[in-house]
Amino acid sequence: MLSPRLQNIYQCIVPGRPLWDIGCDHGYLGLQAFATGLCEPVHLVDRSALVIGQLRQRVEQSWPKGPGVGLQICHCDAEKDELSVRGGTAVLAGLGLWTILRIVDCQFPQGPPKGTRLVLACVLKEEQLRVQLRRRGWFLQHEELFAENGHVRQLLACQASGEPLEPFWNDSDCSRDNGLWPTYLAERRLYFSVSQSSEPDLVYLKQALQQRFGLEKK
Ligand SMILES: C[S@@+](CC[C@H](N)C(=O)[O-])C[C@H]1O[C@@H](n2cnc3c(N)ncnc32)[C@H](O)[C@@H]1O
Repeated sequence: MLSPRLQNIYQCIVPGRPLWDIGCDHGYLGLQAFATGLCEPVHLVDRSALVIGQLRQRVEQSWPKGPGVGLQICHCDAEKDELSVRGGTAVLAGLGLWTILRIVDCQFPQGPPKGTRLVLACVLKEEQLRVQLRRRGWFLQHEELFAENGHVRQLLACQASGEPLEPFWNDSDCSRDNGLWPTYLAERRLYFSVSQSSEPDLVYLKQALQQRFGLEKK
């Protein structure tokens, strides 16, 4: 069973095509796509030796005779090693903005290849991610907001064609009203006001204490 966040990401994967889960960690997403036959081949990619070791163990338990060539486990740093991602879906989830961009630049130095979808769930700074992807020639295929650990996050699916990638939530057919929009805006307002404050950490700390312990505002 995938978490609601991973389920949202799963639904953006192009079926019947290869999948690269880059920075896969636990590998739940790719393993599910492989087990259900959604994609083949499935490439599980991570730069952590520990993660890859645990993943191999999990795969051995689930497929004692071996998973076959349809499941590839790759121990590499996707910021440096080219994975030949062509035609299908590359998922980069739970990674920071600059890690995502370094990986995108390494994997797609010529810009977006035709028929390749990027599915991105950035940890923060999603607006900056959108601007940077737009500069690199990516267009929006789908976007949605999802709730995670008390925050509202954005999920983006980008390709070589689609809607223009605006820095903020698009006024387009891709956008879906799932009730999270007001919370998302409120969070963003807080984020920008804190970022622009001369003492951002103190402001943030004060607000966090006020919210947690109900201290009076002064
Ligand atoms: C927070 S986990 C995210 C796991 C999963 N994608 C998810 O969204 O639940 C980030 C993973 O990305 C891996 N990672 C970070 N930078 C990487 C890179 N340059 N190449 C490959 N893996 C990377 C880390 O080792 C870690 O396992």
